[in-house]
Amino acid sequence: MGRDVIVACDFASAKQTFDFLDRFTGRKPFVKIGMELYYAEGPEIVRQIKARGHRIFLDLKLHDIPNTVKKAMAVLSRLDVDITNLHAAGTTAMMEAALEGLTRPDGTRPLLIAVTQLTSTDQAAMERDLLIREPIADVVMHYAITARNAGLDGVVCSPLEAGKVHDACGAGFLTVTPGVRFADGDTGDQKRVMTPTQAREIGSDYIVVGRPITAASDPVAAYERCVAEFVDK
Ligand code: C5P
Repeated sequence: MGRDVIVACDFASAKQTFDFLDRFTGRKPFVKIGMELYYAEGPEIVRQIKARGHRIFLDLKLHDIPNTVKKAMAVLSRLDVDITNLHAAGTTAMMEAALEGLTRPDGTRPLLIAVTQLTSTDQAAMERDLLIREPIADVVMHYAITARNAGLDGVVCSPLEAGKVHDACGAGFLTVTPGVRFADGDTGDQKRVMTPTQAREIGSDYIVVGRPITAASDPVAAYERCVAEFVDK
């Protein structure tokens, strides 16, 4: 898979999601299904979007004991998504179990990527609530290396970290980066943002874009603009 734009379908119902996806009559966007939509509609929403020909990143961020995550991943593997994820904080044993569960009897599996520290966690919260006292940039990089050593395919990270992750974990280790905004757009609640062009220059493999596309007056045009800046150049 090459560089691509993943559209975060952060909708609360199948109807809203299909009203949105129906607007795309040309290129089928790569779609991210997160907790909101998955918990609202269940696995059927994944099958339906897949049947329409979209590639899917199922963003459920699993984090539990290894045996539970392994069994959950085995169930998710049957949904035939392209990418799914978990929290690296679950440790190596959990990540290895997840890979085992995700691998189908024929040896194929979706790509598996790790969340490092959530971008909503800052240094102060990490020290106070998690008792982790290292600089957060080092913690993120340590989690990325641990995920790579466990056999995972990449991480979700800020586009600002993508270059460093590639340096530490190899060019083939995927960086999937939210926090993307157009140069002339609203940043909303995202604090550390990059444009699609900057994300491409720094080496992101996938950008995850939600509101700049879903809330645009012309979502298809906004999507095409992302593709033009990030993929087609
Ligand atoms: O609307 P927006 O472009 O901010 O959406 C970004 C998407 O990426 C959302 O689905 C959000 O949950 C997700 N995300 C994020 N930051 C992370 C991990 C995921 O913004 N660190």
